[in-house]
Amino acid sequence: MDKMVNVALPKGRLGEKVYKLFKEAGFECPSIEEQNRKLIFENPEKGVRYFWVKPSDVAIYVERGAADIGVCGKDILLEYRPDVYELLDLKMGKCRMAVAAKKEFRDPRGETLRVATKFPNIAATYYNEKCRDIDIIKLNGSIEIAPILGLSDVIVDIVETGKTLLENDLVPFETIVPISARLIANTAGYKFKQEAIEAIKKGLEKQIND
Ligand code: PRP
Repeated sequence: MDKMVNVALPKGRLGEKVYKLFKEAGFECPSIEEQNRKLIFENPEKGVRYFWVKPSDVAIYVERGAADIGVCGKDILLEYRPDVYELLDLKMGKCRMAVAAKKEFRDPRGETLRVATKFPNIAATYYNEKCRDIDIIKLNGSIEIAPILGLSDVIVDIVETGKTLLENDLVPFETIVPISARLIANTAGYKFKQEAIEAIKKGLEKQIND
């Protein structure tokens, strides 16, 4: 069996920061820092193999065991509920899931609320708990446009700096849940490689808390 720990990292700015954390934790992989378009890198001495995947795909690789561990946002875990272990809050990539709308928006209680979002399950759960009748409009990006064009009354989306909302004349009305990056593990992989995975987890934990 493959003894290396296979790690799915989210490609992009967050991924760079996450790799840095792994490196500082003692699991460096020098080849990853060479500028090239390769997607898989390994350091057999440290027993790690990294691969860059689309951030929203990390949980798919981990759930299906193509990766033993990975890093993905809490938003993905809440939306898709993958069958994985959530091992650690990396306390980076912090943002929040929020409801936003045009500043003059007032909830038309009694009428169905039209909600545009990339996160239909998070939105449905949130409004279900409030017993609010909604119509979900699933979009894949540029969600902020929906209320401006009258496609929806509100949006449920990620807010980090708030700049995108501001520049599109939208206002955050409610926070649904705070979000940050999480270390996740495949359930079987965790059992087979528990010692190695725990060593990585401990190393990361130490960096976060120092
Ligand atoms: C996210 C989110 C907002 C933006 C918020 O989009 O959907 O559009 O970031 O960030 P801010 O509060 O710092 O402005 P992302 O960059 O993931 O692109 P997408 O809309 O294509 O999904």
